[in-house]
Amino acid sequence: MAQTDTARQITDFLKSLRAIRQYEPTLVPEDVVRDILDVARWSGSASNQQPAEIVVVHDRPTLKALAGLEGYVGHLASAALAMVVVMPGKWEEGEVFDEGRLSERIMLAGLAHGLGSSIGWFDDTGSNEARRLLNVPNDRRLRTAIALGYATAKPRRGRRKPPERLVQWERYGEPRG
Ligand SMILES: Cc1cc2nc3c(=O)[nH]c(=O)nc-3n(C[C@H](O)[C@H](O)[C@H](O)COP(=O)(O)O)c2cc1C
Repeated sequence: MAQTDTARQITDFLKSLRAIRQYEPTLVPEDVVRDILDVARWSGSASNQQPAEIVVVHDRPTLKALAGLEGYVGHLASAALAMVVVMPGKWEEGEVFDEGRLSERIMLAGLAHGLGSSIGWFDDTGSNEARRLLNVPNDRRLRTAIALGYATAKPRRGRRKPPERLVQWERYGEPRG
């Protein structure tokens, strides 16, 4: 296969990532979970500080309890597992960026293994409760839970703005010559 075909397969794969919020009860094999976590471990971070920690939750009552907390996390209820991202809570700007990178990589690694996933964010109240449920120290930032599991249905096509509303060529606001 030509190299360009392989590149297109990979970029098509990247574009196919959707937020999936309904999951089969099927368990995810341990080696798959560990592979996803190893991808997360290799995620880049500011000054290579690697500030993230991840709490992996399989326990159904805990997933349901997390799903009921304040925020946008209801889909955790049917997930096979959640990867809850814990950040030090010391450098907001850097940690937020690192958290986003890490979350995206977890989702892509999951997709490579045929898993659906979605980010979920706790709001402040939900975050306090989630820290308590998961025994995470109060000074840490806990906002993102990534639900993972086998999707119950094919992903939606998704909607995105057209490229001309994303990209400016060479200088902002100048038409492309
Ligand atoms: C920073 C960020 C926060 C998000 N928070 C939530 C959330 O709290 N709950 C949720 O269900 N989805 C959340 N999402 C998923 C978005 O809703 C999703 O990426 C967007 O709707 C596009 O969906 P699609 O890729 O399936 O088309 C979040 C995504 C990002 C990037």
